[in-house]
Amino acid sequence: MGHTRINLSYMRSAEQYISEHIDTFQSEIFEFLRIPSISASPEYLHEMGEAATWLKGMMENSGLEAKIYKTPGNPIVLGESSKAGENAPTVLVYGHYDVQPPEPLDLWTSPPFEPEIRDGRLYARGSSDDKGQLYLHLKAAEAFLKGVGNLPINLIVLAEGEEEVGSPNLLPFVKKHSDQLACDIAVISDTGMMAPGLPSILCSLRGLAYFDIEVSGPSSDLHSGVYGGPVVNPALALAQILASLQDSKGKITIGNFYDDILDWSSQAKKQMKELPFNQQELERFIGAELCGGEKEFSVLERLWTRPTCEINGLNSGYTGTGAKTVLPSTAQAKISFRLVPDQTPQRIENLFRKHIEKVTPKGVQVTIKQLHGGMPWRAQLSDELKHAVNSALEKVFNKRAVIAGEGGSIPIVRDLETVLDSPVLLLGFSYPGCNLHAPDEWFPVESIENGIRTIAHLYHEISLMAKIC
Ligand code: BES
Ligand code: ZN
Repeated sequence: MGHTRINLSYMRSAEQYISEHIDTFQSEIFEFLRIPSISASPEYLHEMGEAATWLKGMMENSGLEAKIYKTPGNPIVLGESSKAGENAPTVLVYGHYDVQPPEPLDLWTSPPFEPEIRDGRLYARGSSDDKGQLYLHLKAAEAFLKGVGNLPINLIVLAEGEEEVGSPNLLPFVKKHSDQLACDIAVISDTGMMAPGLPSILCSLRGLAYFDIEVSGPSSDLHSGVYGGPVVNPALALAQILASLQDSKGKITIGNFYDDILDWSSQAKKQMKELPFNQQELERFIGAELCGGEKEFSVLERLWTRPTCEINGLNSGYTGTGAKTVLPSTAQAKISFRLVPDQTPQRIENLFRKHIEKVTPKGVQVTIKQLHGGMPWRAQLSDELKHAVNSALEKVFNKRAVIAGEGGSIPIVRDLETVLDSPVLLLGFSYPGCNLHAPDEWFPVESIENGIRTIAHLYHEISLMAKIC
């Protein structure tokens, strides 16, 4: 009894700290979001360093010890608090401080790096993905360290600046520092909730295999009248190659593509059917009919449990105004596959290369480069951990959480689980329609307080768990 009472007042002090400092938190997030930490372009190298330095300073302000580590790419920032002692669990928080390029700029209502609140939404690039959400963890830690005096868990915050470009330098870092990063559970807030006010625990992510393909033919552009006919047109060859990837029933036609797919359990399928998903609402929202892909699967199944093949970009020949009778010498495409367990980017690359070899017409050459790869992931949470998350969410949202899947990818998740041998929990606070990667990205203002409070409760609930796995 005595123990419970102490815990209650302890949580009350943390909660009080959060509500008393919410205005400061908001202005701090604004500062962070003003730094254009765009990882895709080398032009922003200086800003990447600035964001890493800001983050280190903020970790220290929150009461963590922090250090910046150089990598061949953008720096990794590591924050730590290990005063809870050897018997307390260690939580590792992973997030990213890089953002996607904001273009097209003219479609933003307010500039992407000048944060603005309108109608309860905080608009800025990175507000949801992921600077805003990474920040929430620092403040939950601060509520304990400054509001109460001690944190009930040991905490490691691992923040990278290259997630949006496929995390090329993170796995070597995690492997090299695996002793220092050892934890009982990893927590990531880089996803969203199924609906506003409906707390959601993520049970799956799709993986990714992303390729650049170039078809080349004649050594330079040619007059399409003088040479057209016997010269194979690279743009047409590329179109034929691309058209060969999927049939009219939405099936990917690469040999053995579906071989490694694991079925979802009947319990998981049943849970998915019970989720509050409204197809018409989503269609209206994105302005598209949801009639693509494999029709024998429901929309949520197609989004979360099935692999896809997407053409992300195409480039060839003349695309300016008017006509130009050119036979282009090259044609390029960006092609990506979303993967599901247990497909791997390596195996898909092999199958893709074999397929391309088979379908490439004579007279052109194809070069393929893999740009990103990330493993698909399915959550492995113990009942005790699920209970801890559910209690934390219920205290803030007064509602039972749903278990939801996701179609997007976070490349390091599966490797974190494997290298650190710890479960990963994905708990995000953005809403559907937060415009991730798009103009007018926003984060719900109410998710700032709800998120920090939930995370604080989560840290507390985890500290009460006898043994995590
Ligand atoms: N935060 C997203 C991933 C995400 C968003 C997962 C919403 C689930 C729901 C992340 O920053 C991202 O955009 N990932 C990229 C992967 C990458 C290698 C560029 C993706 O999914 O395209
Ligand atoms: Zn992203």
